[in-house]
Amino acid sequence: GGRPLVFVRGSDGEIRALYNTCSHRGAIVCRRDEGNAKTFQCFYHAWTFDNCGTLVGIPDPDGYDTPGFDRAQLGLKPVPRHESHRDFHFVCFDPEAPPLNDYLAGAREILDVVADQSLEGRMRVVSGTQRYSIRANWKLLAENSYDGYHAIPLHRTYLAYLQGSGALVTGGVAVAGGSRALGNGHAVIEYQAPWGRPVARFAPTFGEDAKREIEAIRADLFARHGEERGKRIADWNRNLGIFPNLVVNDIMAVTIRTFFPIRAGVMEVTAWELAPAEESGERLERRLHNFLEFLGPGGFATPDDVEALDSCQIGFAADGVEWSDVSRGMGREPRTDDELQMRTFWRAWRARMTDTPMPDWSDRPGKGTPR
Ligand code: FES
Ligand code: FE
Repeated sequence: GGRPLVFVRGSDGEIRALYNTCSHRGAIVCRRDEGNAKTFQCFYHAWTFDNCGTLVGIPDPDGYDTPGFDRAQLGLKPVPRHESHRDFHFVCFDPEAPPLNDYLAGAREILDVVADQSLEGRMRVVSGTQRYSIRANWKLLAENSYDGYHAIPLHRTYLAYLQGSGALVTGGVAVAGGSRALGNGHAVIEYQAPWGRPVARFAPTFGEDAKREIEAIRADLFARHGEERGKRIADWNRNLGIFPNLVVNDIMAVTIRTFFPIRAGVMEVTAWELAPAEESGERLERRLHNFLEFLGPGGFATPDDVEALDSCQIGFAADGVEWSDVSRGMGREPRTDDELQMRTFWRAWRARMTDTPMPDWSDRPGKGTPR
């Protein structure tokens, strides 16, 4: 939410989310994006906190002899709410918010499918962060992140490259699959991947050496989860939007993306690559290659999307068109290339903006509110 936090596993083993605000006079205590530390020393006057947040060092402690000064109360403050699901940690600044499990609703099950691609059931964020900005309203990236039918016209360079290099497992981009509203404004599209997936769908561009390894992972997934779920984990893509601004796209790699408005017409985007904890060496290299090639800020796709959203913002500012149309597929069983996802997002957004109850998510004729 634009607030500085320290997210840290303490020496006691507990994972905490603490405000990264010095209890002395407010400076940012930890000024690194990542790393390991036993203590955090504030750079302003050197108050020191351990990695559980406790204040452990003050210069000139004898100077603090007033009864109101209680060192025990001056640790780094925890955020009001911090809960996790399958090692996905969420913080919330609203003490009154519902429990995480209730909030995630149907999105929980999709996160489970993502996490299950790890043999150990543990995913990790690969070190390194992508940051970029887009001159567009943040809501346009929520729409774009699970927009299933812009790929063919907008990302034609990438698709031509895949086609030319033999990296398309299927003949083209399949749009069969489904889109689902998951409650609370979350939505997902799931569809068979046209391309290779590091877990665990071989494509010729991975090279013959990778084939045996990927097939072994695949066999293991099938043994552990059964064929149907195994195939879903291995062969299917999922673009998940967790309302309002968290995206987990499990496509040719898994990206976690979040974005915040700087002002109405500018957002900042932060993205990470998520990988099975046990992955290393060539397997991890294949994943990172797949990740950067499409999703990297200089990849084949992200610049296309940035350009498209910039252009929408310019288009809206011209003031000639009052509404976006997201009605595609309202009258049929929702497909991956329909716009149920966007309607789900916008219905939740409207409910928040107007302080009205969350709507019925269904837009099938005769079932719930169509708009
Ligand atoms: Fe941190 Fe003074 S503001 S030590
Ligand atoms: Fe795109």
